[in-house]
Amino acid sequence: MAFTDLAKRRFSSRKYTEKPVDREIIIKILETVRVAPSAKNLQPWHFVVFTESQGIRKIASCYNNVWLKQAPVIIVACGDHNVAWRRSDGKDYCDIDVAIAIDHLTLAATNFGLSTCWIGKFNVMQCADILMLPDGVEPIAIIPLGYPAEEPDTNRHQKFRKNFNKIVHWDTF
Ligand SMILES: Cc1cc2nc3c(=O)[nH]c(=O)nc-3n(C[C@H](O)[C@H](O)[C@H](O)COP(=O)(O)O)c2cc1C
Repeated sequence: MAFTDLAKRRFSSRKYTEKPVDREIIIKILETVRVAPSAKNLQPWHFVVFTESQGIRKIASCYNNVWLKQAPVIIVACGDHNVAWRRSDGKDYCDIDVAIAIDHLTLAATNFGLSTCWIGKFNVMQCADILMLPDGVEPIAIIPLGYPAEEPDTNRHQKFRKNFNKIVHWDTF
């Protein structure tokens, strides 16, 4: 699929079919995460993949919406602040690096006819406890992965995105 079509096809799905996702496909998707760029190539990320219902239910309990536990796969993207690059002014690039990797994940999933939803509004402490994360490793996003049981609004980019000229500035802000 051409990249511009792929980027426009991706959408946040909150309804999934029960169809399982082949492990081979999950691995192919995660291979695109592995090759994502990161500040100083430090790759401060970990991805915890849940495919069994018990683990899915546990992780889904960190999010206050019942639809999540219906996803056949849940991936928790974690950032390691001990490893991430810090700029000389102290800015920690961990979240940025993990976000780039997650974007690879969501686009790769779309390319396989799958869909995802980035979830940021979850109980981080509970999630870190469940995963028994070491100090400095933070769960950044919970990402359900599966075959969508809903169609996105085909007009969504016209209706719900800012106008091109509002966000693109040529030569001066
Ligand atoms: C950083 C981030 C956090 C998000 N957190 C949530 C969330 O907690 N729950 C949710 O349902 N969607 C969440 N979303 C999905 C956004 O609502 C969605 O991307 C946005 O409305 C645009 O829709 P689209 O992804 O279908 O194009 C999040 C997206 C991003 C990028």
